[in-house]
Amino acid sequence: MFTHNMKLAEVVQSDFNTLNVINRFGVKLGFGEKSVARVCADYGINTEFFLEILNAYHDPNYFPQKHLQSFSVGEIVEYLRKTHRSYIDEGIPFIEELMNRMLEDCENPGEIKPIVKFFNDYKTELFNHLHWEDRDIFPYTLAVEETYINGTDASEIIEAMQKYSMTDFLDEHDDIESKLYDINTLFIKYVPPVSNQMICVRILKEFSLLQKDINNHARIEEKVLAPKVIIMEKELLQKQ
Ligand SMILES: [Fe+2]
Ligand SMILES: [Fe+2]
Repeated sequence: MFTHNMKLAEVVQSDFNTLNVINRFGVKLGFGEKSVARVCADYGINTEFFLEILNAYHDPNYFPQKHLQSFSVGEIVEYLRKTHRSYIDEGIPFIEELMNRMLEDCENPGEIKPIVKFFNDYKTELFNHLHWEDRDIFPYTLAVEETYINGTDASEIIEAMQKYSMTDFLDEHDDIESKLYDINTLFIKYVPPVSNQMICVRILKEFSLLQKDINNHARIEEKVLAPKVIIMEKELLQKQ
């Protein structure tokens, strides 16, 4: 488990993939001997929240929800939005670039087309999911928190809650990452010979990294954001 006093360099060395998370908080490489707490202080980051996200990323079984109160919905949503952007602007385009290189390198590109199509369909589904959360879910969670903190008239938010609450979100929230596993399997079994095998290895690595990242992202939505908002929803309803 990562703690305040650990050197951030040690965190990265023990799980190289945490760099994706660290990058989303705006922390650049070159942190020398600095501890997690020191780096957070330098960048103005909430250390509790930073550690929570890192630990959740590193260990899928780590989810001490008692820390939920130590950070705001605003902080969680800001991180989740940044993660969405990184999938849209970096993760998916990078895989597409590698796929195009693979197509150029293949003697019979027609044989790869079904896998490319499967990936493109997945991309559409993923982007629809991200846009739905950005457009509908996140603004709703922020509105619940604002009403809860300011103690203003809750009738508007209760009306919205009765149409679609965070419990509905939990029921509906699909595991968008499991299809990546299917693409991975399809790829391993059926990709035709290409002269540069390293491109295929890179694509497979990127698939599994993205799968892990999206899985972690979904857990933060379901185990951190949703329970926190549901507590506030209940209290707002009781105060009516
Ligand atoms: Fe999301
Ligand atoms: Fe999601």
